[in-house]
Amino acid sequence: MKKDLTLPFDLRTAQRLTEKFGTPVYVYDEEGIRAQSKKLYKAFDWAKGYRNFFAVKATPTPAILRVLQEEGMGFDCSSRAELLMMDRMRIPGRDIFYTSNNTPKEDFELAIKLGATVNIDDFAQIPVFMEALGSKHLGSVAARYNPGGKHTGNSIIGHPKDAKFGMGVESLIESFSYLKKCNIQRFGLHAMVASNELNPRYFEDTVKLILSEVKEIEERTGIEFSFINLGGGFGLNYKTDQAEFDIATAAELIRIAVLSAGREDLEVYTENGRYVTGPHGYLLTKARYIMRKDKTYIGVDASMHNLMRPGMYGAYHHITVLGREDEPVTRSYDVVGSLCENNDKFAIDRELPWVQPGDIMVIHDAGAHAHAMGFNYNGMLRSAEVLLNNGEGRRIRKAETVDDYFRNLIWE
Ligand SMILES: Cc1ncc(COP(=O)(O)O)c(C=O)c1O
Repeated sequence: MKKDLTLPFDLRTAQRLTEKFGTPVYVYDEEGIRAQSKKLYKAFDWAKGYRNFFAVKATPTPAILRVLQEEGMGFDCSSRAELLMMDRMRIPGRDIFYTSNNTPKEDFELAIKLGATVNIDDFAQIPVFMEALGSKHLGSVAARYNPGGKHTGNSIIGHPKDAKFGMGVESLIESFSYLKKCNIQRFGLHAMVASNELNPRYFEDTVKLILSEVKEIEERTGIEFSFINLGGGFGLNYKTDQAEFDIATAAELIRIAVLSAGREDLEVYTENGRYVTGPHGYLLTKARYIMRKDKTYIGVDASMHNLMRPGMYGAYHHITVLGREDEPVTRSYDVVGSLCENNDKFAIDRELPWVQPGDIMVIHDAGAHAHAMGFNYNGMLRSAEVLLNNGEGRRIRKAETVDDYFRNLIWE
């Protein structure tokens, strides 16, 4: 089945939102995010203690995280700032997973203070973590597995053999031999080896590998695992000819693997970001110029600093020209921003209807790893974010101003 391109707003609503909040602007569909969260939890309702620890890095905006908390999610943090965001939001430690790498000791100390589940990336971090923990008690600790040549990754995250994340089974055994001497209640094994993967079989292979390593580590260290975390990576069908990720099949394959290994005692966690919010965020931008050179370019008022996936990975994001959905798609355009970089293009040779300056263009699937990856190169400013509920938009992040950009400059 092809991609569903239905938008949660029409031209009139979009005009109202862009008049009120300006362009470019990110709009998130609260209803869509809630429905997606429910779908994920329903698929895993067989799993003991299932939780998705939403990857905060995907959409680090408190109002959205609050919606996800209401849907039963915990949060996966990757940095000190994300941990501090949790603290500020009064998220309890049991709802926080801390998956970092190359981690400073102070950040372990903060994660321990918050009572988060600390996920250790490498054996070299074990003494540092143990020093940070001292004789204190911590509820849960995990370690991150890297399967090396036993599994393939993909182009976004890299292949496990070349990836800087996680450790092989011998290092895990050594790590858990030390960790079991600490005052820690529960242990878990974590792996995240692919990003934006649409093939459910991939996750079956991942869980099988994790389960076989769980068995070996238990046998060789005498610890008992309480949970496994399969990471994020459930894919998003960015392209129009791609079918949606088959969550029911993926969860069923994982269920069969867990059952076959006789490990229904293990709690199952994931930390998907993109799958949850990705399809329910939209970047609204206005066409500014139609420029005829060797090719025809549409200059829009957003640039790569608002959404860098196309420029960075050559990623496809579908574009709808609002109000022209029924017009014939007769022209080919490059859709470009204002950065002094020639990869500042949202689309190349894209077939679109006849576009006029002032048209509102909607860039789809911008709800994860999108606004969050924004930057200020060329003095560009990040846009506002708006949460849409029942046709009403609520601003959940202000647009940056020049004063924000100047804030840390020393002029004298
Ligand atoms: C450790 C970890 N967990 C979860 C995620 C979330 O990935 P996704 O949003 O693609 O599900 C990422 C993404 O970079 C990650 O690095």
